[in-house]
Amino acid sequence: MERKHEQRNIATMAAQLRWIIDGIEVDDGLRVQGWALRGETPAADSRFLLNGLPFEEVDYPIASTDLEPIFWCEPSAGQARFSCRSTRHLSEVFPAGRARLDFLPQGECDEVADRTAWHIGDPTLEQSTPSGSNVYRVIGSDSIENYFLGGATVHGRFDGYLHAKFGKGFDGFQRILDWGCGAARLTRYLPVGSNVEVWGADIDAVNLQWCRHNVPGVRFEQIPLEPPTNLPESSFDLIVGVSVFTHLKEKAQKSWLAELERLAAPGAVILMSITGPSLMALSSFSEKLAQRLDKKGFLVTGENRQIEAEDENGHYYVDAHQSRDYIRRVWGRRFDVVEIVDALAAHQDVVVMRTR
Ligand SMILES: C[S@@+](CC[C@H](N)C(=O)[O-])C[C@H]1O[C@@H](n2cnc3c(N)ncnc32)[C@H](O)[C@@H]1O
Repeated sequence: MERKHEQRNIATMAAQLRWIIDGIEVDDGLRVQGWALRGETPAADSRFLLNGLPFEEVDYPIASTDLEPIFWCEPSAGQARFSCRSTRHLSEVFPAGRARLDFLPQGECDEVADRTAWHIGDPTLEQSTPSGSNVYRVIGSDSIENYFLGGATVHGRFDGYLHAKFGKGFDGFQRILDWGCGAARLTRYLPVGSNVEVWGADIDAVNLQWCRHNVPGVRFEQIPLEPPTNLPESSFDLIVGVSVFTHLKEKAQKSWLAELERLAAPGAVILMSITGPSLMALSSFSEKLAQRLDKKGFLVTGENRQIEAEDENGHYYVDAHQSRDYIRRVWGRRFDVVEIVDALAAHQDVVVMRTR
């Protein structure tokens, strides 16, 4: 059987997501490990940067035979692991509280560099850490390391994207809604202050309770499985939703799109993450499923048990996927779909929309 869809997903992931960090150690410096794909480019041409400067020690490529069957059409899959270490003082590793890490396969910055950078927050500045079980409810694993890496990266990439596309970052908006905020993985980094009002909303009482006790300055609201909510109408000029539409059935999605339209201020920016080719490649989405998604536009691949959420029609929380054509056709009835950006939300793509 031809595996064209799988091939497209793997090629897109290799070009647009490129690399994954799966180990971080902060001691008297920084060590990171993971894998990085470079196509046909010789490994010697690639560079790993910490805050724009090369890591002092780089071990790349290291054999990765485990990746070969997963990324079967990617030439570098079998030699893709890396281990990098910087011995710089922690004040240089985390200037202004953040480290930015880049993998540049051709050695030079290119047009996707900002979207493929990973961001790590200075662990000594984190005020609160959720429990493994709180974290499991939002990322499906109890890894605190992934919680912090994912949150700081989504924040750093969204902020950079907003600046580049709309001329202002998170702190240039007046009222931000993190819809489906979970354990505040992103919300904790949003700019609370006199000029910006930050709201977090979720259906999950367990995580909201943690958020209220641990993330100061944000207004956290519990909302029902189905709209309407009591959130203020026409008032949010930025709404973000990371991995929420990846978990709702089609009918619920349509109701929530209408509710988000009601809550958004005129001209608001809306950023919603979805499954895209990169996540499909990472999760070994089969040729058959990818074909079915292209054909049908909308697909539920299973129930999801990370949170307990039941509605009258059975299980509410599922693993849901939309094709890009579907997004433009169906979501485009409510909002102007500006673009769909590959892998901007770490592993997920982001639909960028504006109210009309
Ligand atoms: C995969 S988690 C992601 C959480 C958070 N956005 C993050 O990136 O860490 C999805 C979250 O959406 C919440 N959720 C599910 N349906 C929702 C709805 N209709 N409205 C608001 N939140 C919802 C879940 O409770 C869960 O916290």
